Amino acid sequence: MNILVIGSGGREHALAWKMKQSPIVDEIWSAPGNPGMHEIGPCFDVKIDDNDALEKLALQLDPDLIVIGPEQPLANGLADRLRARGYDVFGPNAGAAQIEASKGFSKDIMAKYKIPTAAYRRVTDLAAGKAFLDTLTPPYVLKADGLYAGKGVIIAETREEADAALAGMLSGSMGSAGAEVVIEEFMHGEEASVFALTDGENVVLLPAAQDHKRVGEGDTGKNTGGMGAYAPAPVVTDKLMKKVRDTIVIPTLKGMKAEGHTYQGVLYVGLMMTDTGPKVVEYNCRFGDPECQVLMAGLEGDIVPLILACSTGGMSASDFAQMAPQGGFQPTATVVLATKGYPDAYEKGSVIDGVSAANELADVMVFHAGTDVRDDGALVAVGGRVLNVTASAQNLDQAFDSAYSGVDAIKWPEGFCRRDIGWRVRQKS
Ligand code: AMP
Ligand code: GLY
Repeated sequence: MNILVIGSGGREHALAWKMKQSPIVDEIWSAPGNPGMHEIGPCFDVKIDDNDALEKLALQLDPDLIVIGPEQPLANGLADRLRARGYDVFGPNAGAAQIEASKGFSKDIMAKYKIPTAAYRRVTDLAAGKAFLDTLTPPYVLKADGLYAGKGVIIAETREEADAALAGMLSGSMGSAGAEVVIEEFMHGEEASVFALTDGENVVLLPAAQDHKRVGEGDTGKNTGGMGAYAPAPVVTDKLMKKVRDTIVIPTLKGMKAEGHTYQGVLYVGLMMTDTGPKVVEYNCRFGDPECQVLMAGLEGDIVPLILACSTGGMSASDFAQMAPQGGFQPTATVVLATKGYPDAYEKGSVIDGVSAANELADVMVFHAGTDVRDDGALVAVGGRVLNVTASAQNLDQAFDSAYSGVDAIKWPEGFCRRDIGWRVRQKS
């Protein structure tokens, strides 16, 4: 079979790389793809927000399966359009993608279906917002309702900061995304992400992963898309995983179906492991990036039958369960190499050497995110997050060591990474 992957990040490179290993896959095509994905199969220069051009490309290529990586095209209705054309698509329709695209929508689903999460209020005016803030204790959590490139959340330490942030958001500091603000109770605990692959009815959970969202070591500095990740995350024990399944994933999927938004694809459940059990921080309508890179690298078996089963739907519970990748999961870590300056302004065009040397190391795989190939053949950085140096091993300690050996093989003075990825689980030597 032939698969079209939509996207150009490390997440999509990892998906394409993993799916290409499947014995049932012939071609992997990517749109727009990146230099790493180009090594797997042809890339087509189509923008991910251009539904017309993507639909045209699909009709031209006629793939057997279309895998949509990022949230924007899903929120934009790309899956709806391609399904209407008769394609099997991995990724929810726009109605179901609201679970990520609208924080208010997702909080209302959680409230209605009694899914454990932080107390909240949706507000569009300052007085109502302040009245709800009066009922909370610091720190305060304020979220823009709409998609804001992963930067729509403000954690305010003091009431003054919270009031100022609320006033700013409501008066347009985050554009239309902040016209409505969700104010939440602050939850204490360790974060983890669980990924549920589903056809809307049945579900297979992949091992829990842990991301590192802050730019600086010791989890300091600004929030980013994620600076590194590992899986499995031991904070989510088998017992807690079962609880996540029973009290969060299943009720969420049932609720979505009852609301007329049957959810097909991968549901990303961002969790806070609190003293009173796992609670939802957020949902996303796609794989995490860079969590996807560790999941794809660590899975021993074939992922394609499960992705296909999620996309076609209609399988019995027992048939669906058999689609799960066989053979277990190898502990895996990924370290993000980013351009100096990220997540603020950064220069583009610096030359990166040593990616092949890193790839030659045992167990290391480098996924491309923000790279391009110059006319003279040099690999250059063109994004904030640029490479994901990923390694699988017998245990997490070795996986981190191998990933950092890969990082050290890469020569890129204009880049940086966090040196403490996995600090919660690494043995201090
Ligand atoms: P979100 O985009 O909703 O995942 O929020 C970004 C980050 O803000 C999360 O990864 C958490 O670290 C933090 N956060 C969001 N909501 C809460 C909350 N209610 N309590 C504590 N931390 C939160
Ligand atoms: N790594 C966090 C995310 O993909 O949202």
